[in-house]
Amino acid sequence: FPVENIRNFSIIAHVDHGKSTLADRLLEITGRILKTDRNKQVLDKLQVERERGITVKAQTASLVHNYEGKKYLLNLIDTPGHVDFSYEVSRSLSACQGVILVVDANEGIQAQTVANFFLAFEAQLSIIPVINKIDLKNADPERVEKQIAKVFDIPQEECIRISAKHGTNVESVLQAVIAKIPPPNMKIEDPMKALVFDSTFDHYRGVIANIALFGGEVCKGQKIVSAHTKKSYEVNEVGILTPEEQPTNKLSAGQVGYLIAGMKDVEEAQIGDTFFLQKHPVEPLPGFKSAKPMVFAGMYPTDQSEYNNLKSAVEKLTLNDSSVTVHRDSSPALGAGWRLGFLGLLHMEVFNQRLEQEYNASIILTAPTVPYKAVLSSAKLIKDYRNEVITIVNPMEFPDKSQVSQYLEPMVLGTIITPDEHIGKIMSLCQGRRAVQKSMVYIDDHRVMLKYLFPLNEIVVDFYDSLKSLSSGYASFDYEEAGYEPAELVKMEILLNSRSVEELTTIVHKEKAYSSGKAICERLKDSIPRQLFEVAIQAAIGSKIIARETVKAYRKNVLAKCYGGDITRKMKLLKRQAEGKKKMRSIGNVEVPKDAFINVLKRK
Ligand code: GTP
Repeated sequence: FPVENIRNFSIIAHVDHGKSTLADRLLEITGRILKTDRNKQVLDKLQVERERGITVKAQTASLVHNYEGKKYLLNLIDTPGHVDFSYEVSRSLSACQGVILVVDANEGIQAQTVANFFLAFEAQLSIIPVINKIDLKNADPERVEKQIAKVFDIPQEECIRISAKHGTNVESVLQAVIAKIPPPNMKIEDPMKALVFDSTFDHYRGVIANIALFGGEVCKGQKIVSAHTKKSYEVNEVGILTPEEQPTNKLSAGQVGYLIAGMKDVEEAQIGDTFFLQKHPVEPLPGFKSAKPMVFAGMYPTDQSEYNNLKSAVEKLTLNDSSVTVHRDSSPALGAGWRLGFLGLLHMEVFNQRLEQEYNASIILTAPTVPYKAVLSSAKLIKDYRNEVITIVNPMEFPDKSQVSQYLEPMVLGTIITPDEHIGKIMSLCQGRRAVQKSMVYIDDHRVMLKYLFPLNEIVVDFYDSLKSLSSGYASFDYEEAGYEPAELVKMEILLNSRSVEELTTIVHKEKAYSSGKAICERLKDSIPRQLFEVAIQAAIGSKIIARETVKAYRKNVLAKCYGGDITRKMKLLKRQAEGKKKMRSIGNVEVPKDAFINVLKRK
């Protein structure tokens, strides 16, 4: 394909606005997949993705389309559909010259629509606004077009109204892609330059890097070098994605496809990295960042004898996801385990769910924490630390106030879009999270866009759920990083009969320690079953107890009703108890259900 007949584009949308459905329709029209229900959403591959209906890993497909007597190669570069993955979205976009911005005709512009629009706008891409789901009874495309005009300054007439579900007008989206998105401005004569915008791991073939060629050509047998790791490789295979890999002789400037070169670890082909030919070194493409985890948690096998199994499961999973950081860790209470870093809470949940589903692992997760910083007062006195400013990703390693001149916490700028009848409740929710309002604009007659500066830790566990429930599901949320700010922080421990529960040790803001300690104790009281003795639940800062609850002793004998009854019933009961025990964790002599820990962190 000559470069002028190539179009590289992405579909961006708020969750559920129909990105995958539209992608499927485009694949169908171009004859890549059969029109059957079974092929629905081929671009969403992971089991968790299907279950949760969200895209976690980007999938890419090359389509061939005839238009006005010419053959075009359309490279559809899928992007992950969640706030946790905005860096990956921006990398995928840097491989494109244009985007299809899908907005639901009923829901209108949502927080992620705004976030994604600005990523595309900053990358100076052509933007094709598409109003989807016009078949819905409550669809109001005109209102949505007005929002688009107001918020994005795109003329109403440019919007294309479609139903991805029924295929209505989808053809005109393809035509707009060809007519409005410029071909990539890249030359075969230039030295080879390939941007890695995604990578996956295959057991037999190693790392498969998805690449966009910004110049030159790459083919089998050539020697290439990673600009980031400086390692060199021999290319074993190149090809296009349909979305299955299909080998070709070469990939040339402007094209999008995959490359296999004997890499054993996704770390070797990080998102945003540049590959070039060994004999023609070039400047790497700008904008590379290593994945930056925002949420950390400790992970331990429930049973230490499971350590090796869990280790190999974690290794296998991280082979496919270089954005999870893994460090060995151990604790007197929980044994040997790891400290993992995730892009966000959803990312953590997805990882956890995959471990349990795909590897049948039983794990203990500690309370998630954000990366705090501490400026040490006299660094020389503390022999363990070499730097003046340290980052704390494990609450157990929180340095004492006496050693610190200032604590810092990470901040984010959040965007909320909501129908205006919920504004009052949302404002008090945000205030309760120590947020500062930055702006408030009406995007149409009754929808408002609010911007708040939040401490990241205030939104990590349950902000999104609270926002959804108090707006009956209508408010949407997205955020971007916004640096660090000084904060009064303390380490809070939760004690069960005077023993500290490591999973629940958290770093909290001083002002919130009392209320949060009290709430955790109350919720823990509800989730700890009665035992044969009294259980004292306490929240403590240092040696000071700030909250207390008590679980009364249990008097009844569970086997009492079996007396005289038949023995098999008694065995069954004991067996069920033993199974229940697997889901329990002992703190001293207190038995606590494992899932109680993450649940008690969630505010109601
Ligand atoms: P993420 O992968 O989470 O980003 O979601 P998505 O944007 O890919 O949304 P998806 O394509 O999975 O669609 C979400 C839901 O909307 C599905 O239940 C679709 O069947 C439905 N849907 C998509 N397009 C249309 C449409 O044109 N009309 C109607 N009525 N429903 C649609």
